[in-house]
Amino acid sequence: MSTWANLGLQDSASPLMEQLIFFHDHALLILVMITVLVGYLMFMLFFNNYVNRFLLHGQLIEMIWTILPAIILLFIALPSLRLLYLLDEINEPSVTLKSIGHQWYWSYEYSDFNNIEFDSYMIPTNELSTDGFRLLDVDNRIVLPMNSQIRILVTAADVIHSWTIPALGVKVDGTPGRLNQTNFFINRPGLFYGQCSEICGANHSFMPIVIES
Ligand code: CUA
Repeated sequence: MSTWANLGLQDSASPLMEQLIFFHDHALLILVMITVLVGYLMFMLFFNNYVNRFLLHGQLIEMIWTILPAIILLFIALPSLRLLYLLDEINEPSVTLKSIGHQWYWSYEYSDFNNIEFDSYMIPTNELSTDGFRLLDVDNRIVLPMNSQIRILVTAADVIHSWTIPALGVKVDGTPGRLNQTNFFINRPGLFYGQCSEICGANHSFMPIVIES
């Protein structure tokens, strides 16, 4: 989970999140290079001595500064596309978890494991124990094995919710009347915290998710 002064991404707990962080850093590096170049160019305009006042066209330079940015964009687009399809790959899941969004709590079903069903509510601040995390802990945690492929099915009973766990790189909308699917692989033990991330009503901020792995 995020703690004080953690402004970047959380440490990954799954191979997909690791790839997402690599892609983020890659895109950021390209962004910094473009910003520095354009910033330098704009700064240098202050010292322009107008030697090219009567220049009306330059086919070659137009060609270069059209094609070059297009090639740079390809270096972002292709890895992005690779990740997009990688995130959708389902690889023989050993457990399936179904999570249903409600106003304002999540309910879970382990449909292929003893048919376990339970609701998961946030623990209110006045009932929180001293080692609990305010607005983030729940009364019934999801328990999932590490080092195994896990499929999750997300839907909602009333309005649109979103099942989001940053450390696992998972963010799936739960939409009434639809069943969305994604998967993840937890590669270290721990508690992984998440929150709903679709504005779903007055208590949207108070329907957290906790995975115990
Ligand atoms: Cu459910 Cu926001």
